Parts: sequence; C-alpha cells; structure tokens
Amino acid sequence: MGLTDRVAVVTGASSGIGEATARALAREGCAVVLAARRKDRLERLAGEIESELGLEDEDEDGDGDEEGEKRSLVVPTDVADEDDVTAMIEKTRKEFGRIDILVNNAGILRSDPVADADRVDLRKQVQVNLLGVMNTTHAALPAVLESGGGDIVAVSSMNVRYPAESGSAYTASKCGVNGFCRSLRKEMSDEDVRVTIVMPGPVVSEMNDWEQWDGRPLDPADVAEAVVFAVSRPEHVELPEITVNTTDKLG
Ligand SMILES: NC(=O)c1ccc[n+]([C@@H]2O[C@H](COP(=O)([O-])OP(=O)(O)OC[C@H]3O[C@@H](n4cnc5c(N)ncnc54)[C@H](OP(=O)(O)O)[C@@H]3O)[C@@H](O)[C@H]2O)c1
Repeated sequence: MGLTDRVAVVTGASSGIGEATARALAREGCAVVLAARRKDRLERLAGEIESELGLEDEDEDGDGDEEGEKRSLVVPTDVADEDDVTAMIEKTRKEFGRIDILVNNAGILRSDPVADADRVDLRKQVQVNLLGVMNTTHAALPAVLESGGGDIVAVSSMNVRYPAESGSAYTASKCGVNGFCRSLRKEMSDEDVRVTIVMPGPVVSEMNDWEQWDGRPLDPADVAEAVVFAVSRPEHVELPEITVNTTDKLG
C-alpha cells in the first residue's frame, strides 16, 4: 500500500525511535503529526523534514505566508493527559482532515527494583506507557475509521517476552500494551484497520545508551524501518506482531 499523502500521527516524536519513524514516514510521502512534550525538539524536527523534502519557507509571492503544502504539524502533547491528546487529534483533523496511521511510541523507562521504587514512578510508568496508548488510540480511532481505515501501531518491547532483572512496572505497562492491541485487533476484524505491535530489543536512544551491554544494539532507524514496512503492506496483509532483535540476541 503506497504511503503517499497518508496522514500519520507519531507520539514520542521528539527523539529516538519516534523521531526516526517520523522521518521515515515523511520520506515515504506521509504528512506527519509530531507529538511529544518538548516543543523545541519537535519544531527542529519539523524544520529538518520540510527542508529534506525541499518545502521550507516557500513564500513565493512575498506576502509573508508560506505557500507550500504542509507536510508536518507540531503539537506539543503529554500522552498521559487526556485533554492534551484530544486537542492533538482535533488539531490534526483540522489541519489534514484525516488520520490514516497512528504510531503509539511515547514511553518512559524507570528500572528501579520494586522494593526500592517510588510509587509515583510506578504509577507514571503505566500512565504514560499504557494509558498513553489507550488515550491516543481512543481519540484517534474515529478519525481513522472515517478515513476508511488505516494502521494503529504500538511500540512495545521485547521485555514482554524476556523481562529484564529490574523494571517490573515497565514490563507490566508493555504487557498491557500488547493485551490492548491484541483485543483491539479483534474488535477491528470487520473494519479496514490493522493493528501492529512492534517489540524492539535494545535500541540506542535517550532512554538507554546500552553502554554497559557488550553487544551491538539497534539504531532507532532499524525500528522505524519495521514500522514503515508494516504500514506499507498491501491491504490484505497484516503484521500483528514484529520483534526486532539484534544479532547479538539479547533475550
Ligand atoms: N531504547 C530501547 O532499548 C527500547 C527497547 C524497546 C522498546 N522501547 C520503546 O520505544 C519507545 C521509544 O523509546 P526510545 O528508545 O526512542 O526512547 P526516547 O528517545 O527516550 O524517546 C521517548 C519518547 O517518548 C516521549 N515521551 C515521554 N513521555 C511522554 C509523555 N508523557 N507524553 C508524550 N511523549 C512522551 C519523549 O518525548 P518528550 O520527553 O519530549 O515528551 C520521547 O520523544 C518507548 O515506548 C520505549 O519503551 C525502547
């Protein structure tokens, strides 16, 4: 399925896997909505995307307005805040009129052992990683259905299959994401909506530099490619789950 002119919302687009995914989808022809909390990072990314596509600052008649077609939209968003998420989806619909792809990627990692963990951190893990996915999917789904169908993607973790020694709340949140997506996929069986869970292994990003690990971790772009592959399959093909591991086989 071609991606030209599809509208893709990417949460956690201000760094790492989300940033790489937004760039990759834009290269394939999508208009991308960049959602995360750090506005400056999102604006920089939007500028780089427009520049790579040769669209920046096209004020040909000198009236102060950019005439070029907009291919990115920056919407500062906290996915744990329901009002923020609703406003982000409304802005997307106003700007682009449709949503074809949602990439639920925003996430945080607190890896304290349970005995040492702060309860606020335990709660935050679920509020961002799980409720964030549920909030955003709930808000975006009506627009995806109105657009005639599309793709809901969630970036989960290989931790679901191979839990680490610490980070129980992180693992719990990602198990919740997988459960939510599996049920949603069934719910969507009579609709043209595909649901894909992407489970990366170790990825170098702000979340984790993997310096202590004696192996070659993944780059964010490796995961972005898997997302692009899933959403660009022909209409009759769905990839419900993708694991992206390193050849050093952590897990
Ligand atoms: N790195 C790994 O080894 C690895 C492995 C498996 C899975 N993952 C998953 O991959 C996803 C992306 O992580 P990453 O490795 O790319 O790490 P990252 O560079 O730290 O990216 C996390 C992104 O989530 C955003 N975010 C955090 N809290 C948010 C909130 N409340 N609302 C909106 N956005 C929020 C951050 O932006 P702001 O701070 O600007 O909001 C950032 O853009 C996460 O879901 C993570 O669990 C990572």
